[in-house]
Amino acid sequence: MTGASAGIGEAAARRLARAGFQVVAGARRQDRLQRLAAETGAVALQLDVRDGASIEGFVAEIERRFGQVDVLVNNAGLALGLSPIAETADGDWIAMWETNVLGLLRMTRACLPLIRRARSGHIVNIGSIASFENYVGGAGYTASKHAVRSITKTLRLELNGEPIRVTEIDPGMTETEFSLVRFRGDQARAAEVYRGVEPLTADDIADIIEFVVTRGPHVNIDEVIVRPIAQAASFMVHRREAGAAEGGATGRSGSRA
Ligand SMILES: NC(=O)c1ccc[n+]([C@@H]2O[C@H](COP(=O)([O-])OP(=O)(O)OC[C@H]3O[C@@H](n4cnc5c(N)ncnc54)[C@H](OP(=O)(O)O)[C@@H]3O)[C@@H](O)[C@H]2O)c1
Repeated sequence: MTGASAGIGEAAARRLARAGFQVVAGARRQDRLQRLAAETGAVALQLDVRDGASIEGFVAEIERRFGQVDVLVNNAGLALGLSPIAETADGDWIAMWETNVLGLLRMTRACLPLIRRARSGHIVNIGSIASFENYVGGAGYTASKHAVRSITKTLRLELNGEPIRVTEIDPGMTETEFSLVRFRGDQARAAEVYRGVEPLTADDIADIIEFVVTRGPHVNIDEVIVRPIAQAASFMVHRREAGAAEGGATGRSGSRA
């Protein structure tokens, strides 16, 4: 599980550990991973998916301890900023692409020999509704998630004939640290994303991850698209206005996932 120190990855690590998987949890923040490990029996290993050497060390340690990988969940990812293309900063795009695209590619490539040793392997990529929708200011993130979708579909073609399932899960608005990261710690701006809406929770997505990986080995769930009911598109969210009674004043406004 990449990105297991927070949000969807942490919730999924907890669920899979409860379901009987030996979870290996990777992320940069070791203090959080150690807490997760103590509570669940997961193995916590340092991982920066932007760093090829870190990926190699992570996978080598898994090989040394376990010899194979049954399920790889490529979950680590982030959005940075919300700038129009005309004003966007190279650094934001580089960070998103190195994490969401190159990180996922390198993790997959490094794990594949170990996945091939499993009787039945599974690669689960966490995309987003941004894998197929676009919104103003979102190009760096949506383009990276479109790339995830393309990698997922190509993998399914290239691994055809092998006992390796390939799934993409595409969540809409999910309340995690995602918006806090996007807005570089600006709590008020992050809170605004979820104002007047009941978003998905990290555990809603973890539940789906657990479901797809526990089907029979012949059952490939290609993709799951899941959103809060209030979100018809990444940019169209129905919000309850503050102070309005149930069924009272509502409004639509932009949001993202
Ligand atoms: N929240 C949403 O609305 C939403 C919607 C659709 C898709 N998603 C996708 O869901 C995935 C998980 O996001 P989240 O919502 O759970 O966000 P989150 O709460 O911010 O968690 C992101 C996780 O990714 C890890 N990560 C980031 N950069 C990393 C790196 N270079 N190396 C290793 N780990 C890294 C973080 O760990 P460290 O910082 O400790 O390294 C953290 O554990 C992402 O791929 C995101 O794009 C989220």
